[in-house]
Amino acid sequence: MKKIVILISGRGSNMEALIAARDAGQLPVDIAAVISNRPDAMGLETAARAGITAHFIDHKAFAGREAFDAALAECIDSFAPDLVVLAGFMRILKGEFLRVFANRVVNIHPSLLPAFPGLESWKQALDYGVKFTGCTVHFVDQGVDTGPIIAQQTVPVLTGDTAETLHQRIQQAEWELYPKAVGALARGAVRTQGRQTIWKEK
Ligand code: GRF
Repeated sequence: MKKIVILISGRGSNMEALIAARDAGQLPVDIAAVISNRPDAMGLETAARAGITAHFIDHKAFAGREAFDAALAECIDSFAPDLVVLAGFMRILKGEFLRVFANRVVNIHPSLLPAFPGLESWKQALDYGVKFTGCTVHFVDQGVDTGPIIAQQTVPVLTGDTAETLHQRIQQAEWELYPKAVGALARGAVRTQGRQTIWKEK
């Protein structure tokens, strides 16, 4: 069975969706550990309650990004995961870290990339006036939200939506999409060819 490590910084609702899918037998992975860069991340308690090893590595305790990335890489490596799953991890990973974990880091982003990368994408979508937005699961590469796209789910923007209501519906879509995409990766059902990802099954 494939082993994953989940990285979080906050609430961890996507992490919870992954745990729930695993518990329901829909996600055939061993969740080896959850690691947060923030000691106060709510998701750490949720993970511990689910019996999953939960660690924090406080990025503020390090002199710079590279030192933090090295400590994080060492901690992740100790679990020898097949996949590193970012679930609301609010640190940009690049350079050496991505060389060590090349093609093994995935993220979920709250928009239909390449539209609205960066922060508060639901607000960007609302301000822009699009009729559809959604969420994207992608491999993490050296850019910000630029890696090859694995899966996307659309969410309509409704009349009267506020940033909060739209964000909530995008999150619900994320809770469906992320377990499906991670499950497909774990089963070896996704092949990459340059920027394209090819699903052998749906
Ligand atoms: C999600 O909206 C995800 O798209 C983004 O960060 C948020 C994390 O939320 N990368 P949660 O911590 O999983 O609730």
